[in-house]
Amino acid sequence: MEITKLHIVLIGLMGSGKSSVGRQLATLTDLSYFDTDWMVEAQMRKPITEIFRQFGEARFRELEHEMICKAVSETKPAVIATGGGAVMNSANREQLWQRGLVVYLQADVELLFERTARDQHRPLLHTADPQARIAELLQARAPFYEQADLVVPIRHKNTAQICEEILRHWPAERGPDY
Ligand code: S3P
Repeated sequence: MEITKLHIVLIGLMGSGKSSVGRQLATLTDLSYFDTDWMVEAQMRKPITEIFRQFGEARFRELEHEMICKAVSETKPAVIATGGGAVMNSANREQLWQRGLVVYLQADVELLFERTARDQHRPLLHTADPQARIAELLQARAPFYEQADLVVPIRHKNTAQICEEILRHWPAERGPDY
């Protein structure tokens, strides 16, 4: 693995389990955990739905970019969970891919819909047909998600199994350069 790939970075669509996998990975590895959505919410002291409503998606994307830069600039290895749309910005991709082992939690539209159906916290899914919206987003984003260093299909796997798969690609013994 390239020496600059210090962090484990989780990417994937809403509902793919980045936060639960991220938290568990951090516990298993004893690394710090950053969730860029939470960082944006903490900075603004508002939930994401409210940030979208008051300031618009463009402002959210600026804040998301700032938080990604902040998280990847950590000098100690960390687990970083990103928002589903983060990969659409080329500057985010540059930061994430340069500084992290990028892991795509891959799921199909039906599974993502099932897992987000009861959730009101995702402004992009506040539409008449959220399943169609998920399909659209996945189509637009898949080319970037698929550039991940590691693709982990999540269907029929629990969080522990997903973590185990990721950790097989993560050196347990890290050399002095880390
Ligand atoms: C978004 C995903 C959300 C959050 C925001 C926008 C997206 O994060 O960043 O609502 O563009 O897909 P999760 O993927 O963690 O739900």
